[in-house]
Amino acid sequence: MADTETLQIKNVHKTFRVGKQDIDVLEDINLNVSAGEFVSVIGASGCGKTTFLRLLVGLEGEYQGDILLNGKRLNGPSINRGIVFQNHRLLPWLTIEKNVGLGLESKKGNNKAQIVQDHIDLVGLKGFCKSYPYQLSGGMSQRAAIARALVNRPEILLLDEPLGALDSLTRMYMQNELERIWKLENITAVMVTHDVEEAVYLSDRIVIMSCRPGKIKRIIPVPLSRPRDRASYDFMRIKEEVLKEFHLQAEEHFAYSI
Ligand SMILES: Nc1ncnc2c1ncn2[C@@H]1O[C@H](COP(=O)(O)OP(=O)(O)O)[C@@H](O)[C@H]1O
Ligand SMILES: [Mg+2]
Repeated sequence: MADTETLQIKNVHKTFRVGKQDIDVLEDINLNVSAGEFVSVIGASGCGKTTFLRLLVGLEGEYQGDILLNGKRLNGPSINRGIVFQNHRLLPWLTIEKNVGLGLESKKGNNKAQIVQDHIDLVGLKGFCKSYPYQLSGGMSQRAAIARALVNRPEILLLDEPLGALDSLTRMYMQNELERIWKLENITAVMVTHDVEEAVYLSDRIVIMSCRPGKIKRIIPVPLSRPRDRASYDFMRIKEEVLKEFHLQAEEHFAYSI
């Protein structure tokens, strides 16, 4: 059954050489992600989450183990994986349409302008094609970053704390938007987050990582129907279960984030 999974991560181990020392950052990572699944990765700062995503994008050349996409070992970055970072990383001197179109594969030819427009519409930025990044709010900039990541119609969308820099109301609104886009595009998503509630709200499964070296400690399924009710008993129960993994319980930790 595992061989039919879209993304297979098998016995992955990542070491960084710092000076004369090898530092183990990820150890024994095993995870299969199915087509269309939404998986969140949650763990303390420095436990290797960004490194893990960089491996999935193909930005970290050397690692032990295997990362397979549709049965083929990843070999460098490719347009079938799009990534969104915490900071939107839009180029300030380009309009939104130019930013979104920048990475668009050249063979799309004459259709390019339409594809860019469609993705700008998809993320709810209709009418802002000619705006510059400084003219957009934080949430709008992240929308543009999501459009840029999706413009080549990747199979997998990787998100590294994509909503981490937003205020809490915008963040909740953008969580709904992410869910809408994920469903509409029927895409496989792997998202790193620090926010337990965000992970429970959006994910089919939550991967909990422990630190030094980063390992998968536990995978918690979230079998709740969507859209999810943050105030429901089942939602709170799963949130509590995740918090317990970090020795935090709802009644003693009101911020709900780690
Ligand atoms: N290119 C690198 N060279 C050396 N060490 C690195 C490099 N990238 C990340 N690290 C180290 O790997 C660990 C995990 O980093 P990172 O993946 O960014 O963690 P997280 O995203 O969970 O906060 C940290 O200790 C960090 O200092
Ligand atoms: Mg990180």
